[in-house]
Amino acid sequence: MFQDRVLSGMRPTGQMHLGHYHGALKNWVKLQNEFPCLFFAADWHALTTHYGDPSVIEQTVWDMFIDWLAVGIDPTKATLFIQSRVPQHAELTLLLSFFTPLAWLERVPTYKDLVEKHAEQGRDVLTYGFLGYPLMQAADILIYRATAVPVGEDQVSHIEFTREVARRFNHLFGREKGFEEKAESAVKKMGPKKAKLYRTLRTRFQENGDAAALEEGRTLVNDVQNLSLGDKERLYGFIEGGGRVILSEPEAKLTETPKLVGLDGQKMSKSYGNAILLREAPESVTKKIRTMQTDPARVRRSDPGNPEKCPVWNLHQVYSDSKTKDWVLNGCRTAGIGCLECKQPVIDSINAELKPIRERAAQYEDDPTTVRNIIQDGCEKASDIANDTMRDVRDAMGLNYE
Ligand code: TRP
Ligand code: SF4
Repeated sequence: MFQDRVLSGMRPTGQMHLGHYHGALKNWVKLQNEFPCLFFAADWHALTTHYGDPSVIEQTVWDMFIDWLAVGIDPTKATLFIQSRVPQHAELTLLLSFFTPLAWLERVPTYKDLVEKHAEQGRDVLTYGFLGYPLMQAADILIYRATAVPVGEDQVSHIEFTREVARRFNHLFGREKGFEEKAESAVKKMGPKKAKLYRTLRTRFQENGDAAALEEGRTLVNDVQNLSLGDKERLYGFIEGGGRVILSEPEAKLTETPKLVGLDGQKMSKSYGNAILLREAPESVTKKIRTMQTDPARVRRSDPGNPEKCPVWNLHQVYSDSKTKDWVLNGCRTAGIGCLECKQPVIDSINAELKPIRERAAQYEDDPTTVRNIIQDGCEKASDIANDTMRDVRDAMGLNYE
C-alpha cells in the first residue's frame, strides 16, 4: 500500500533537556537511517496553552531545532519543518472535523484529565483548542500518510484516535462502486441472528469507536461457515468502514529506552526546575548532580541506603555499565561508598555525552541563516507531500472543482 514513513512532532518548549534526548531524540536519530522521516515543531499545538503569550513561541521553535540538529538529526536524511508553515494541516483538520463524533474527542484520556483538573481547580478557560487538540494531531499524521509515529506512552491514545479517524474517513469517502450492496448481501448470507448481531456490532464500532465490538465482529465473521472468502473480506472491511484506503492508519512506535527522571525523581521538565539542558555547561551539570536528592535515609555517610529510593540510581541505569551498577548497589546498601562518590561516574558520562552536542549547538547558534534555510527547505518538502494527500482528500470529498 503506502510506503513506510515515520513522522513525529513536539510542541516547542525551547531548549531541549536530557529527558527529550533519551525519551525521543536519540530514537529519531536512529530512525532517520532506517526510514524516510519527517519531524516537526507543533507550533499551533503550543497555542493550546500559550495563546496568552505567543511571543515566546518563535524563539522556542528555533531553540528546539538547534538542539535537534545538535544531537545529530541530519537534514539530508530527515525532513524538518514547522507545522504552521504547512497550512494544509489546518484544511485537513477542518475537513476531518465534519465527521468526527464529538464523543470520540470527549473520550480521549488527555482531554478527560484536563476537564477533571479544570473542575477541581477552575483554572484556565476550557477552550475548543483543547478539545480539538487530538484532531489536529490526527491531521498532522494523516496528511503525510505516516505509517509509524514514535511517541511516548502518554500519546498512545492520540494515535489510537488517529486510526479511528482514518478508518472513518476511508469508510465514508473510500467506498468503491457496488461495495455497499455486495457487503449488504453478504450480511444477509450470515442468517438473521448473526446478521443482526453483526449490524449491532458495526454500529457500536462506527458510532462509538468501540474496539471490543470490532474484535467481536471480526470473530463472528471468521466463524461463519458458509461464506466465500470474498464475502468475508467484504464483511471485515464493511464493519470498520472498508473500501478504498485513502488515509492510512499509523502505528504508535513506543520508545524503548528507560525513562530518565529529573533531579528530584519526578518527570524531567523545564517547568519543574529539575532538568539538565543539552546545552548546559559542564560546571553546571556537575553542580546540579552533586546537589541532587538521594535516598533520604542516607543522612550520614555511615547510613546505608536503598538505590531504588534514589533518583541517582535512575541515572546509573541509563548511563552505567553493569560493573558500575553493581558497585552502586553494593556500596549504597552497605554504606561502602558515599553519595558524592556514587554520583561521579554519572557526572562524567553526562558531560561526555553532552560535549559534542554543546559544540554543534554553538555552531548553529552562530549561524542562524543555515538553520533557517534547513527549515525552509523542509517546509517545502513537507508541503509537497501534504499537497498530494490533500488532492486525494478533496477529490474523495467532492471538492476538486476542475
Ligand atoms: N501532542 C504531541 C506532544 O505533546 C505533539 C504532536 C503534535 C505530535 N502533533 C503530533 C506528535 C503528531 C506526533 C505526531 O508531544
Ligand atoms: Fe543514591 Fe548512590 Fe547515594 Fe545510594 S549511594 S543514595 S544510589 S547517590
